[in-house]
Amino acid sequence: MKRALLIFTVELVAAPSAIAQESAEGLEIAELSRKENVDFATEILPIFRKNCLACHNAKDADADLNLESPAAIAKGGESGPMVIPGNADKSQLMAHIRQTQKPYMPPRRNKVGANKLTPYQLGLVKLWINQGAKGEVREVMQKLDWRPGPITMTPIYTTAISPDGQFAACGRGNQIFVYHLPTQRLAVRLSDPSLANGVTHRDLVQSLSFSPDGRTLASGGFRVVKLWSNKSTEPAKFVNLLPGGERVAALDVALGQALAIVAGGRGSVQAVDLNSMMPVWRDRVEGQAVVQLQLSPDGKKVAVLFGDGRVRTWSAAAGDRLTREASPLGATAMTWLDDDRIATGHATDGVKVWAANNPGKVTLSWATSVPLSALAVTGNGATVLVAQNDGKVLAINSADGKTIKTIDHGAAVAEIRVKRGGGQFVTIGGPVAQLWDAENWTAIAQLKGDPRAEEQVALAE
Ligand code: HEC
Repeated sequence: MKRALLIFTVELVAAPSAIAQESAEGLEIAELSRKENVDFATEILPIFRKNCLACHNAKDADADLNLESPAAIAKGGESGPMVIPGNADKSQLMAHIRQTQKPYMPPRRNKVGANKLTPYQLGLVKLWINQGAKGEVREVMQKLDWRPGPITMTPIYTTAISPDGQFAACGRGNQIFVYHLPTQRLAVRLSDPSLANGVTHRDLVQSLSFSPDGRTLASGGFRVVKLWSNKSTEPAKFVNLLPGGERVAALDVALGQALAIVAGGRGSVQAVDLNSMMPVWRDRVEGQAVVQLQLSPDGKKVAVLFGDGRVRTWSAAAGDRLTREASPLGATAMTWLDDDRIATGHATDGVKVWAANNPGKVTLSWATSVPLSALAVTGNGATVLVAQNDGKVLAINSADGKTIKTIDHGAAVAEIRVKRGGGQFVTIGGPVAQLWDAENWTAIAQLKGDPRAEEQVALAE
């Protein structure tokens, strides 16, 4: 404890008046309003590594406090637990790093290059504690030679399950990972040889869809759609689909037809013949970005959710608009319930079900307490999966609106994909993709964390 005494003495000499003001507000702290869970390994650990771990690691733990993992942090230091999960304001660690309680951390004068935390870093630590101070640090991750973070650490925005239920493709940042679901292993990472670092697209992968025969995976990135064959991990075809370089926001491939429907960030909706790669029809909703696009189960109609919160529908083959009016206002998510009905999720007033050919008339509705982020249907429309912004997913009986089961994805869900024929579904959001059993509502597997760590594990076995 020699060092501890020394530091304390320096503090006394340098700032004698600080003792009296200990309970002042302390360092400025940013109030973060984000829904996703703070990930210890990728967000908190780097801050601690830079500013704390030199003095608080497993081998050399000042005050007997090891800050290398949530488990070690939970054990606390010589004066007991420093973190109270769920309560940052009562956690002493917070007081030490906000510098409202001595000893100030990191110590003001130190020889390890540790700096006081920035308002954003303090906000992040606070949020992590308030979210329960959870997380895990995998051995394997520390052994890997890291490349710049954004490549692997970006959240998953889109997923697709192959028609035979064998594979799930996940768009993670600008890359695509394909998992073998029965073994829950990474099967392949798709990389475009024309891009560096095993990247799949130049920009975030916005949308993924398997062809009905499962042999082709279509991925939409910045301005292009790439088609991948299951025989090769290199893209078979690049297609600049949308006019004027419009961003590809969503796509779906029609069942039993070689037809892809693609929609863009500036309101274009376009059908493309996947054999000839020629546009079949094109329409546009001026000034509205596309949020989501989905073909009806029979592949005959396409519903598109736009930024104005309305759903518009087209016939998939011909591109005729099915109705002049659009759906109830304020939708944040949508799904086909069956070939004739669409369910929409709303920010403030739950789920509404309406006939595709009569969007003005809501036939069924039920309330939820939290805004919705995604919707899907399983059991041929018998059950609606409703993802709330708080990471919970409700399975609701579409006949009576009763909740059958609530499951927890752990982070805001961006998308739910149900395996053809039901039985299983994947929820994605934050850094996690999770596979669920739709019969007994249990988690089967998490396709999560750093995929390269996953690969490493797979190789080691
Ligand atoms: C230069 C070394 C050094 C660095 C860097 C450092 N600490 Fe400390 N820390 C100490 C020492 C020494 C003590 C014990 C001081 C004492 O008791 O007077 C201590 C005590 C603590 C305690 C109180 C533990 C207890 O049981 O009383 C907490 C909490 C803490 N540190 C958190 C942190 C955090 C969080 C960081 C990074 C933001 C950090 N420290 C950075 C040296 C360091």
